[in-house]
Amino acid sequence: MAQGYPLFSEDVSDEVVNARMAPDADPRLREIMSTVVRHLHAAVKEVEPTHEEWLAAIEFLTETGHMCTEWRQEFILLSDILGVSMLVDSINHRRPSGATENTILGPFHVQDAPRYENGANICLDGKGEPLLVSGIVQDVNGSPVAGAQIDVWQTNDDGFYDVQQKGVQPDWNLRGMFTSDTNGRYSFRSVKPRYYPIPNDGPVGKLLGRLGRHPNRAAHIHFIVTAPGYDTIITHIFAPDCEYLDQDAVFGVKTSLIADFEYANQGDEDAGISEPHWRVNWDFVLTRRER
Ligand code: BEZ
Ligand code: FE
Repeated sequence: MAQGYPLFSEDVSDEVVNARMAPDADPRLREIMSTVVRHLHAAVKEVEPTHEEWLAAIEFLTETGHMCTEWRQEFILLSDILGVSMLVDSINHRRPSGATENTILGPFHVQDAPRYENGANICLDGKGEPLLVSGIVQDVNGSPVAGAQIDVWQTNDDGFYDVQQKGVQPDWNLRGMFTSDTNGRYSFRSVKPRYYPIPNDGPVGKLLGRLGRHPNRAAHIHFIVTAPGYDTIITHIFAPDCEYLDQDAVFGVKTSLIADFEYANQGDEDAGISEPHWRVNWDFVLTRRER
C-alpha cells in the first residue's frame, strides 16, 4: 500500500472516512464533518438499512430538493418537523431568566410590512374574533425601551398567511410594524389566532402522514422585536386554549410564551372597538446585545 491510509471496513468505517480530511482543512469544518460522519455511520450501523431503504432515503431527499423554490424551502420544513430548527434556535438564544424567549421564525415573514400608529387594526379581511394586544417593551431591569420596532404577522381566520393566498386575501393582511412610544408602550388590533397546518403538500407532509403525525401549529402570533443595542427577539405568543399547544408540529411552544387571552364582554371606546373582544397584555423583555 502506497501511503499507509487505513482501508475501509465496517468496524472502522467512520475513522477511515474522517482520516481522509486534510490536516489543514478549516478546523470548524473538520469538527463539524467528523461529527456528522461519526453519527451518520453509527445510525447506519444501528438501523442496518437494505439497499431499497437507502434508495428510498435518497429519493426522499431528492424530492425535498425538487420541492424547493424561491417561496418554498422544504429542507427548512424538514429541519422544523425534526425539531432541529428549534434546537439550533435554543442553542443560539440562551437568555437570562425573565428575558423574552425566542422561538421559530417560520417561512412566512415578509420584510417591510406597512408601518402603523399604535392601536391600528392589522386585520384587513374582517374575518375572525377581534383582539387587542398591548404592552410594554422593556429591558431586564424593567426600564422601558422607547423606539423599539415590533414587526407582527399571523394567519387569517381561515388559517392562511396573506402570501399563501395572493389575490384572495388583501395584500399585507395581518402584518404590520409598530414602534414603542416614550414609555415603551405599544398596541395593535388584530384577530384571535387559530391553529393551522404547515405546508403539507410535499415530501415533508407525506413523511408526517406516514409517521402518524398531524401538521398543525398551535395558534400563535409572530413577532420580531428590534431596538438599537439590544438582542433581536424572534418569537410568538400562543393562545392558551389551543388544543395543539402540547403538540405543535414544529415544537415551537415554550411555557413562557403562552399568553393570557381575556374575553371582554363589551367594546372598548378608547381602543375604537365597539363589540366584545379578546384582550392580551404582553410585555417584551430585551437583553443588551453582547457583540
Ligand atoms: C409558521 O409559524 O409560520 C411556520 C413555522 C414553521 C414551519 C411552517 C410555518
Ligand atoms: Fe406561523
